[in-house]
Amino acid sequence: MVALINVSNRLPVTIANTIKPSSGGLVSALEGYRKTHDFMWVGWSGGPVDSPRRQRELAEELKSRFGYHPLFISQQDIEAYYTGFSNSSLWPLLHYLPSYSRFDHNWFEAYKKVNFVFAENIAELAEKDALVWVHDYHLMLLPRLLHELRPDLRIGYFLHTPFPSYEIFRCHPNRQELLEGLLGADLIGFHTSGYLRHFRSTVLRLLGRESRINTIAGKGHDVTIGVYPISIPTDKFLQKMTSAAYSRHLEEYRRAYAGKKVVIGVERLDYTKGVPRRLEAIEAFLKRTGRKDVVFIFINVPSRESVPAYQALRREIEHKVSRINGNFASIGNIPVHFIHQSVNFSRLCALYTLADVAMVTPLVDGMNLVAKEYLICKPDGDGVLILSEFAGAAQELPQASIVNPYDTAQMARALENALNRTPEERQKRLAPMRRRILRYNAQRWAGDFIADLAGVDKSVEKGAGA
Ligand code: G6P
Repeated sequence: MVALINVSNRLPVTIANTIKPSSGGLVSALEGYRKTHDFMWVGWSGGPVDSPRRQRELAEELKSRFGYHPLFISQQDIEAYYTGFSNSSLWPLLHYLPSYSRFDHNWFEAYKKVNFVFAENIAELAEKDALVWVHDYHLMLLPRLLHELRPDLRIGYFLHTPFPSYEIFRCHPNRQELLEGLLGADLIGFHTSGYLRHFRSTVLRLLGRESRINTIAGKGHDVTIGVYPISIPTDKFLQKMTSAAYSRHLEEYRRAYAGKKVVIGVERLDYTKGVPRRLEAIEAFLKRTGRKDVVFIFINVPSRESVPAYQALRREIEHKVSRINGNFASIGNIPVHFIHQSVNFSRLCALYTLADVAMVTPLVDGMNLVAKEYLICKPDGDGVLILSEFAGAAQELPQASIVNPYDTAQMARALENALNRTPEERQKRLAPMRRRILRYNAQRWAGDFIADLAGVDKSVEKGAGA
């Protein structure tokens, strides 16, 4: 039995008066594995917990109930490491938006400090030769820090965002340290071959390191790079769709939206998701067609509200939604239903099943799981997915109605076409995409990555100081 330590910025729990486990895709992807293996998850507790006594109590409860090891980060460090460096500096740059990216030297100091705290904790917890799987852009320095402390560990790193082209990544003042940090890993995974290619060329151009097929020669050890497109826990969705709650909600929504076509959009309220441009496309569609039988349901889950760019985006969306509704609503008919809250899982599945069309039009997105969730909730194959060509998911789902999210006129036309398609056309295009998702689900994604990490040959280690 090999120990696996999974590491992400946040633990999948919400800590308030009680501890509430959250059910993200990563949790489900690893569920099978944790039942059969020695497993631990290391991550930030998700909010400031100041009292050392409370920290001890929480740590004990998280360990005994879930096998989680929480790290407690001070409010000051959260602001600099999470709000600052991770979400105001790296996130926009990785999503091709350098004009949103800010830099502050103190943020990087906090980022280094927190990455080091992760490294120290894992180095202490990991048994010999354990596998460590690090996730996402908050922890780019961790692979190297950990490799230096514990060269016996097999360290995997998966980037959940895009990796941008060299021309974009080079804008970051800490580009070299970040790359060197990542190259401490034994295996680095990306969603698409495009991101992998960008990474390889950035490593060559910034560090002068060549790669052979999918191996980058390091100073001390080789690093394997690979493509692992993340997916969704299909069984969780299929099971939910057999529940009484799901059927009840679906019935309720069918009554509420009788005689209407329903178009859905679901995402965190994030400027990468392209919501303002999508609203412009909807405005153009309503203007051109004058249709009164279409309802747009936008579920925008609140996110990163301490970051100023997210606050400005919320104002922009609210303004656009109220303009559309002001211009096109009539008594009893409101075109855009903007829901700035999360929706529970059975309601979400029911809404996906109900929706005639899903508009998934991010300006750029590492993968985008909403596209896959919509498809799985369409067992009868009767729906249309409008998908941005800049979402990683577009690589896997070519039968979708692929659009350029910057071209609002094209999106408006795609919407019109989607609503006019025959049931046969809808089914013909949706079925192969749904089959693909059923075949390659979240469990397979995690299984493939872990198997490749376990297979890393540590005997080629060229000595310390890699
Ligand atoms: C993206 C990131 C994840 C992150 C999630 C929620 O999907 O790739 O790493 O967990 O957003 O963001 P938050 O800032 O709320 O953790």
